[in-house]
Amino acid sequence: MERRRLLLAVLLAVPTPATLAQGPPPPLGGPLPPQPVPAGNPITTSKSQLGKALFWDEQLSSTRTVACGSCHISSQGGSDPRSTSAATSTHPGNDGGFGTPDDVIGSRGVPQSHADGTYEFEPSFGLNEQVTGRKANSTINAGYPDELFWDGRASEVFRDPVTDAVLLPTDAALESQAAGPPTSEVEMGHLDRDWPQIAARVEASRPLALAQAVPTALAGWIGARTYAELFEDAFGSPGVTPARIIMAIATYERTLVSNLAPINLGPGGLTPQEQQGRQVYVVSGCAVCHGGPLLTDDRFHYTGVRPANEDLGRFEVTGNNPDRGRFKTPSLLNVELRGPFFHNGRFDTLEDVVDFYDRGGDFNAPNKSPLVRPLGLSQQQKNALVAFMSRPLTDPRVANEQAPFDRPLLYAESTRVPLRYGNGVAGTGGFVPDVVAIEPASVGNPSFTVGLQNALGGAPAVLVIGLREPALGHALAALPALAWSHVVLDGAAPGLGFGSVSLALPDDPALAGTDFYGRWYVRDAGAPGGAAASQLFTVTAF
Ligand code: HEC
Ligand code: HEC
Repeated sequence: MERRRLLLAVLLAVPTPATLAQGPPPPLGGPLPPQPVPAGNPITTSKSQLGKALFWDEQLSSTRTVACGSCHISSQGGSDPRSTSAATSTHPGNDGGFGTPDDVIGSRGVPQSHADGTYEFEPSFGLNEQVTGRKANSTINAGYPDELFWDGRASEVFRDPVTDAVLLPTDAALESQAAGPPTSEVEMGHLDRDWPQIAARVEASRPLALAQAVPTALAGWIGARTYAELFEDAFGSPGVTPARIIMAIATYERTLVSNLAPINLGPGGLTPQEQQGRQVYVVSGCAVCHGGPLLTDDRFHYTGVRPANEDLGRFEVTGNNPDRGRFKTPSLLNVELRGPFFHNGRFDTLEDVVDFYDRGGDFNAPNKSPLVRPLGLSQQQKNALVAFMSRPLTDPRVANEQAPFDRPLLYAESTRVPLRYGNGVAGTGGFVPDVVAIEPASVGNPSFTVGLQNALGGAPAVLVIGLREPALGHALAALPALAWSHVVLDGAAPGLGFGSVSLALPDDPALAGTDFYGRWYVRDAGAPGGAAASQLFTVTAF
């Protein structure tokens, strides 16, 4: 039934010049409809405040460096501002090689790691943060669709991630979705992380301990309470459980409704250029897929962004051949904030996207939508189309991160992140050992991990941390170090050696404000004096 409707819609929409010029414009814009809310998880203020704390709490990730919010920032339209830097946000795509046409601009998550906090070498990323294989969708207005993710694999049926029992049978795609990232070894978790471990981590954490500038209303609601107390407030009985963590996060996301874009506030108010852009948008068929108040049909289409068999998209969920390469139509509300665009972050600007549609897409396949075909737009029409997709579709509260789109400053965005500086000393093969220091030096952090890569495989190495800079040269033993951590590096060849140590930072408030300095030394006969060394890092405990 669904498929037949879709086919019909496509047939009806196939543009002939006459219908394009005269057909009534499909409904576009207007007030947002009410959002579906699962009966078993009603929205309450305390639950959404709890969810907001959890969504922005980097302690949810194994490494304490990634929150949901890290990849979903309002001023970026609910997507990831770091994706604007290809240098740090590129995934190599199917072919595993960087710098090839199938590369994807995604979101940085965690280094691959073990339950004990130590790091594991990942073939594409080494000990660096791994990058997701798709661009982050927006979390704004994400309460509307029945199916979430680019391929719709998060369904509206929410199952308890521990027992697999159906907890919410309908309208719960947000809950299904939120169950994923904390256990993903790329986004937030260590290898084989499970939900009981995540619930235990939440219970052991002080709410938003790593964040700064917590919005006043949220800070006031949290007060001096523990997560256990917040859960009791939000759910009416004690218990920090996986399902409750997920339901609170989903409830917070249901508050992220952007309904104050000019297009949602009613007709009129558009500049002449924006008005012309609206016409081009309708005449070009954009509104067939990106129509209605949310500017999406929430359906899956192949539009020729990349070869249909590269990322199979919807096919991975349904196994139906016509679904190869199909992705969910994104809502275009707030789209101007959200670049780079498409499931693979392929285009940096809306101008690039318009050029893409104007040339009828870049790849073909039998299941490509007939609506994506050369448009023959003039430069003026293209400019107007971009103008229409900018101010008229943007809720200013989203752009300015005003309530409900306000948020704390994340640890990873702050100056609390360890800083690398100075020079290292190259070893065999000319490789300079590379220190990886990204985790928070927060007082009492039971697992502050420092990694080393790009060194001599199999060599003994030592991480020295002190109150002064561990110097280069031969005076190692004379260093007044606080911690000497010895490891034997994994990896078999020069440049492929890696290792890490996970340190428990003392739970002593007097430590806050103290500056620490660290450096790795690697025993390596190919280095001057027999020791290769990494750069320094410094960090102020907080
Ligand atoms: C490391 C980055 C990263 C983190 C952390 C992360 N996400 Fe995402 N998120 C993504 C990416 C990438 C996608 C798209 C993945 C796909 O479609 O295959 C996505 C998709 C989503 C979607 C789907 C929206 C839609 O329109 O389909 C929602 C909702 C969402 N994330 C919420 C969350 C929540 C809640 C958390 C924390 C529990 C979270 N994300 C953590 C990167 C991240
Ligand atoms: C057949 C349905 C369809 C039509 C027609 C269509 N789009 Fe899209 N649009 C999509 C889908 C599906 C995607 C996501 C494709 C992907 O990521 O591979 C998308 C993505 C986009 C994006 C990127 C959004 C983001 O968050 O990354 C923009 C902008 C956009 N379309 C604008 C337009 C404009 C302008 C037109 C008309 C010229 C248009 N679309 C016509 C289905 C359509």
